[in-house]
Amino acid sequence: MNLATDTQGCGLTTEGFRRDLLRGLSVQRKHLPSKYLYDEEGARLFEQICTLEEYYPTRTEVGILQRNAPEIASLLGPRCNLVELGSGGSIKTQLLLDHLEHAASYVPVDVAQAQLLESSAGLALVYSNIEVLPVCADFTKHFFLPVLPPDSHRTTVFFPGSTIGNFEPHEAELLLRHIAGLCGRGTRFLIGVDLKKDPDVLHRAYNDSDGVTAEFNRNILARANRELGADFSITLFQHHAFYNQQEGRIEMHLLSECPQTVRVGDAKFSFAQREAIRTEYSFKYTLSEFRCLAQRAGFDVARCWTDSKQWFSVQYLVPREDIEGSLVKASNSVDENPRSLFG
Ligand code: AVI
Repeated sequence: MNLATDTQGCGLTTEGFRRDLLRGLSVQRKHLPSKYLYDEEGARLFEQICTLEEYYPTRTEVGILQRNAPEIASLLGPRCNLVELGSGGSIKTQLLLDHLEHAASYVPVDVAQAQLLESSAGLALVYSNIEVLPVCADFTKHFFLPVLPPDSHRTTVFFPGSTIGNFEPHEAELLLRHIAGLCGRGTRFLIGVDLKKDPDVLHRAYNDSDGVTAEFNRNILARANRELGADFSITLFQHHAFYNQQEGRIEMHLLSECPQTVRVGDAKFSFAQREAIRTEYSFKYTLSEFRCLAQRAGFDVARCWTDSKQWFSVQYLVPREDIEGSLVKASNSVDENPRSLFG
């Protein structure tokens, strides 16, 4: 099994982290890109978050995929190529691979090289008829797709977990266009999108009682200490996550407990008491808001599955040019009343 890597070696570099951190702390509203939450420790903490009672997205999405895997598989079609963005341990993918009709290839794309290689090797053993073609890359940047099997058919990009919500809507739109451009004409998306709901449910999901999310958030500073030799006093930054109803997003911040100065190499950054570093946005959508976003990116929502509480959705996006001229129209349905638009 060959590993394809991006031009920088693999994924996110220490120099990239240093540059983004210095830039993000130099501006008036301090912020750090959320992708730096995921070093090895961050990925471990995120996996723990996914098992928490308060963090509903993972189990809700898994339930949707389990209940609808046969229908999803029939939409993806025979001899398909499945590209997964931010594949991690490829846990959710297996729900799909088990149902796909002679899938041609599986292309997991992730920055975490060790986990990528380990999970790809495991999948290649279990699904010996599928070509597993891992790509170690930051999917927000340019990367090259490996050569796909010559007799393969449609390519679908699987983007679960509502990671799309960690991008601002205009960035999410660009990301869909960028990935579709890399994967070629006719590429479809199977995408997990978290939905707007009771703010209390959202608040609990990002403020769990075990403090795992707080640790996950503070780990970005611990990572800066480990990798960049910064001197953040981790305990002097407080986890602060809240739902900004007007913007329709969870905001995760780290608040300075007191006035303090932090060094990163030769650079010094002053913090006032309660001054914030924003570490993550997690946008929540209504079904119609997300449909508009997809349309702006050139896609129609051809099929949408949700859970009975309408807390989470898995959406199948088809390029508008594929849908125009046919009688297929986008619509949504909940699990209790599944209706396919195709076939
Ligand atoms: C990966 N991403 C979709 C998670 C989310 O819910 O936005 C990251 C996360 N942040 C805090 N808890 C989970």
